[in-house]
Amino acid sequence: MRATTARAYPNIALVKYWGKADEDLILPAAGSLSLTLDHFETTTTVVPAPDAEADVLELDGAVADGGQTSRISVFLDHVRALAGREDRVLVRSRNSVPTGAGLASSASGFAALATAAAAAFDLDLDARDLSRLARRGSGSACRSVAEGMAVWHAGDDASSFAESITAPDMRMIIVTVNRARKAVSSREAMRLTAATSPFYSGWVSSTEDYLTQMVAACAAEDFTRIGEITESHALRMHGLIQSTVPPIRFLNPTSHAIFDAVAEARESGIEAYSTADAGPNVAVIVRPHEAEALAGQLSAFGDVRVVGPGPGAHLLTDADEVPAAGDNAAAADSPVAGEGSRA
Ligand code: DP6
Repeated sequence: MRATTARAYPNIALVKYWGKADEDLILPAAGSLSLTLDHFETTTTVVPAPDAEADVLELDGAVADGGQTSRISVFLDHVRALAGREDRVLVRSRNSVPTGAGLASSASGFAALATAAAAAFDLDLDARDLSRLARRGSGSACRSVAEGMAVWHAGDDASSFAESITAPDMRMIIVTVNRARKAVSSREAMRLTAATSPFYSGWVSSTEDYLTQMVAACAAEDFTRIGEITESHALRMHGLIQSTVPPIRFLNPTSHAIFDAVAEARESGIEAYSTADAGPNVAVIVRPHEAEALAGQLSAFGDVRVVGPGPGAHLLTDADEVPAAGDNAAAADSPVAGEGSRA
């Protein structure tokens, strides 16, 4: 075993994953598609700790609580089983993503952890198997293993992984309206949706339809169709979530105002479309040359950041400036320095 460091970026889904076919294996009820970003990275180091009795997780320089540590340990048990080893490890993770606020921080977190842990335990995994491994930590993490636009296939344990597809170049404007940790986790809210919403089966079948259309739109470089599906699917997901018992609402009045402002921008000639994950923050897709102008307009609603397609999860070498213990450089670069820890 050896100490290894990996970096991964969050992704924002344009066709959303919301519901599992298998809770233990984290298999989705339907496929999904997302853009891996080039900002808000997580950098994670896995250090062998052969004499330790338990795994230790350090998030942004502080020892994490029991809940966060046990989720990491369950994931590491799977890595240990694959490697046929029992070694405990120290995991040091630096996150520049607003935590649990709907900016997919568990995706970058588990994609980075899977990549670093696989190398630390000398597992020889190809991109497909690395994506399958990341999936076991958090479903959406399997998409952050792949660069740019990526499809996550529904299926069984062997066939459910994410892979990149070609798509037209675009930018995403992330409008952060609230950095607080959300009251209900995606995992819990997803469970409640499948258990209580009368619309769940329609959601699953219509998601498969939209995914097929979205993949075709990406291949045809049809930005308009990509945008229409993106916004419609996001609103369907939030409608579905509001139909749970008891109801859950992730969007707030500012989120709705941003959807309205983007619709108005379309009327005035800037073609853009909104989406939002399990939180109030909104992500807006737009053609590259119009991104800065629209970001200026949307800055009235919160912090804006223009981001683009980013790389898949990858190992860092010393030459890439692997952060040392106690070094908070990665977090200092973040718009939310010092606030984050992973969901
Ligand atoms: C709204 O991947 O965080 O962002 O698999 O339970 O860890 P678990 O859920 P997670 O859910 C992400 C939900 C979403 C939509 C998406 O990213 O597709």
